[in-house]
Amino acid sequence: MAKHICCTGGAGYIGSHTVVKLLESGYKVSIMDNLINASEKVLPRLKELTGKEANVCAHKKCFAAVDKLFAEQKFDGIIHFAGLKVGT
Ligand SMILES: NC(=O)c1ccc[n+]([C@@H]2O[C@H](COP(=O)([O-])OP(=O)(O)OC[C@H]3O[C@@H](n4cnc5c(N)ncnc54)[C@H](O)[C@@H]3O)[C@@H](O)[C@H]2O)c1
Repeated sequence: MAKHICCTGGAGYIGSHTVVKLLESGYKVSIMDNLINASEKVLPRLKELTGKEANVCAHKKCFAAVDKLFAEQKFDGIIHFAGLKVGT
């Protein structure tokens, strides 16, 4: 069974590239991103690029959605990219 990785900030610059590589490598991927510094348009592009679908929690500061994600999903690993860059 595919390992399941949660990628926080997965709609952002480094995160989205990482998600593409993970999906291409056969991992199951969940993205947790509040879209504070990313466009929603990135999310369908990930599927277009890889032909695979990530589970998306684009929560827009809804903490209940984050709680739900972690209550419902079991992860083998988490890669944390959700953060603000200088000037953001
Ligand atoms: N880009 C670089 O060259 C570089 C170099 C070194 C370190 N970093 C660090 O790596 C991290 C990611 O960098 P990046 O260039 O991909 O930035 P980015 O802004 O493109 O991506 C960060 C993503 O995290 C999301 N996010 C921010 N705060 C969040 C929160 N509280 N909850 C959920 N999602 C949240 C944003 O919406 C965005 O999609 C940042 O912390 C950055 O400082 C980046």
